[in-house]
Amino acid sequence: MTRQQLSLDRRIQSLFPVALASLLVLGTARLVLDALKSNDSFVFQLYGRPRGQQQRPAVVVSPEDRIDESCNVFEGKWVWDNVSHPHYTEESCPYLVKQVTCQRNGRPDSYYKNWRWQPNDCNLPRFDPLKLMQILRGKRLMFVGDSVQRGQFESLVCMVQSIIPQGKKSLQRVPPRKIFKVEEFDASIEYYWAPFIVESISDHATKHTVLKRLVKLDSIAKHGKHWEGVDILVFESYVWWMHKPTINATYGSPDVQEYNVTTAYRLALQTWAEWLESSINPERQKVFFMSMSPTHLW
Ligand SMILES: *[C@@H]1O[C@H](CO)[C@@H](O)[C@H](O)[C@H]1NC(C)=O
Ligand SMILES: *[C@@H]1O[C@H](CO)[C@@H](O)[C@H](O)[C@H]1NC(C)=O
Ligand SMILES: *[C@@H]1O[C@H](CO)[C@@H](O)[C@H](O)[C@H]1NC(C)=O
Ligand SMILES: *[C@@H]1O[C@H](CO)[C@@H](O)[C@H](O)[C@H]1NC(C)=O
Repeated sequence: MTRQQLSLDRRIQSLFPVALASLLVLGTARLVLDALKSNDSFVFQLYGRPRGQQQRPAVVVSPEDRIDESCNVFEGKWVWDNVSHPHYTEESCPYLVKQVTCQRNGRPDSYYKNWRWQPNDCNLPRFDPLKLMQILRGKRLMFVGDSVQRGQFESLVCMVQSIIPQGKKSLQRVPPRKIFKVEEFDASIEYYWAPFIVESISDHATKHTVLKRLVKLDSIAKHGKHWEGVDILVFESYVWWMHKPTINATYGSPDVQEYNVTTAYRLALQTWAEWLESSINPERQKVFFMSMSPTHLW
């Protein structure tokens, strides 16, 4: 690695807590925020009005929870807030993997846990686990991607699990999936490890090669069959592409070639977009793409 790359890496790493927090907050809040802008039910906001189908139960948004339609929630800043944050602690949530339990791993400061996103033109309602569970009643929400998505998944699970009594919730590990089930709501929050979204030789959730990467840019079916019918899908992929300027991949034939990363990424997203076209029912399902995951080595 050149010195320039190293210093860039350091800068990226020092930005990481903020970037991760922004993903966590915006990613999870977005679902709710979109719905809060209207008097209409959350469910119709998320799914569109079903045609000729039985209507899903509406969720009432109380007036104090609504945010101004004109407010751009993506313009704002991070403010330090030790009164309303954090939403959970490592001790309060039994579902975190060792990789993200910073305090238990010996991190001395805890300042990083208190950042809250403050839009310029309005205030965000505090995250309400019960409201999210009401939105998710009878539904599956799945995060697909790399370890940043696992962080999203675990964070969301930690944010809702405290309101669910023991014995009414469970976490199953079925690699490459993790499934958090909430019995009373007949709902699940799930995670699916697919660091390139398309198929690759790094698709085992724990036994994956990090240095040798080989991506099948035109293949997605093995993963896709596990995503079919999921009510809300949240995709993300970036950092696994960025190891080197080129990446070994196959496309249209079994021959391995080195591709420019940008070319490979574009082809993979095309494959993904075609899968969406043929497999997603926009009347019933909602798809989010979270763009680039930040480097998160520290
Ligand atoms: C929401 O409800 C209020 C009060 O009933 C009404 O004045 C307003 O126009 C509604 N807004 C939308 C977007 O329907
Ligand atoms: C929040 O931080 C301020 C300033 O550091 C401190 O005085 C206060 O005790 C803290 N409050 C809580 C609830 O931790
Ligand atoms: C692609 O694979 C070849 C053969 O294994 C290897 O020599 C080369 O370093 C790989 N390229 C990249 C970008 O990893
Ligand atoms: C890869 O990128 C380099 C630098 O931008 C460019 O010169 C080259 O033509 C690209 N190769 C392919 C196959 O797109």
